[in-house]
Amino acid sequence: MDKKYSYFIINIVLILFSVIPFITTFKCRLYGVDQSSLETTFTEIINSTSYDRIINLGRVSFSGTATSVKIDNQKYVSTYHTSNSLGVPHYFLLIIDIHTKSIKLNLTLNEKRDSGSFWQIAAPNSNEIVGIRESFHAGSSLEVAKINQTNGLMETIGTYPYGSYSLVMVYASKRRLYYNVIESTFYAVNIDTGKLDINIRIPNGYTIYAIDYDSVNDRLIALVYSSSITNGWILTQLTITAKNEIRFDPIGKTIIPFEKYLWTTTYTMNTNERLWITIWSIKDSNKNIFIVFNIDTGNIMEKWETNLNHFSNLVCFD
Ligand SMILES: *[C@@H]1O[C@H](CO)[C@@H](O)[C@H](O)[C@H]1NC(C)=O
Ligand SMILES: *[C@@H]1O[C@H](CO)[C@@H](O)[C@H](O)[C@H]1NC(C)=O
Ligand SMILES: *[C@@H]1O[C@H](CO)[C@@H](O)[C@H](O)[C@H]1NC(C)=O
Repeated sequence: MDKKYSYFIINIVLILFSVIPFITTFKCRLYGVDQSSLETTFTEIINSTSYDRIINLGRVSFSGTATSVKIDNQKYVSTYHTSNSLGVPHYFLLIIDIHTKSIKLNLTLNEKRDSGSFWQIAAPNSNEIVGIRESFHAGSSLEVAKINQTNGLMETIGTYPYGSYSLVMVYASKRRLYYNVIESTFYAVNIDTGKLDINIRIPNGYTIYAIDYDSVNDRLIALVYSSSITNGWILTQLTITAKNEIRFDPIGKTIIPFEKYLWTTTYTMNTNERLWITIWSIKDSNKNIFIVFNIDTGNIMEKWETNLNHFSNLVCFD
């Protein structure tokens, strides 16, 4: 064998064995909020050992752990709330420009009547922000509402049936549907008509822990527990069949073991890099772990422990 070539091979092998477990393989820029101290900070995760606190947001609360989205691959968009001394909440829309690292908008949200905390938001396009929030409408505990970015007015679009919920929700841009799981039923509100277009019972033996949407391939990804795989969570593709039933097709063979980790409902998808970036807490420890999946193969692309244990609302910019 050519000497140069064998040297090259040896080098590649060395790189594979020595470096890959420690480096960050994703190229997207990962941001989120750190709520580990009294004051919340907008933070960039540089790699497994380094992060950069960019903006101190003060004493604010983010209701959900996956409440943030990106607009135009430049703006980090989220909602948060504060409480005054009487405990009365005030709601805000926050837009941070990640290029200039500055706050572009910090707008008071208001409405004539009902209002509640947003558990999640989505940006169907740069002029449209919608989200799921607590509902004060009769017969409903959650609803889809829109936010006007100019005057901060919020308005209900549609409601889900009453029931207990666990923040399993996602907006699907190509379908204009906002999905939500309430008491073992899979629902979706159409954001144009406000109607409940989907209302399907989740099959027995399955529990959905998270859903996310792959906008490139117009498919739903679900993190589920299945009674046929009793020792952990699996990644699946969720489809609705012609018979109007839910089907889960496992993506790859990865199982996240119950005895080691706890799901934190903190995640984000980067469809260009085909990655689902998630944070889990490690059982019997105060550490968390980042687990990054490839959404097509289900393979774990990287995994690293972190001391950031109140880090959430991830968004990864291209
Ligand atoms: C993480 O990023 C910092 C700052 O850029 C760099 O100095 C350090 O070597 C990186 N560490 C790893 C493990 O890649
Ligand atoms: C956002 O606006 C509120 C109300 O004006 C203000 O109290 C708060 O300090 C602002 N937050 C930031 C981070 O500028
Ligand atoms: C937001 O409100 C402004 C008036 O303050 C109005 O001109 C605009 O059309 C509204 N935007 C949307 C998307 O409804």
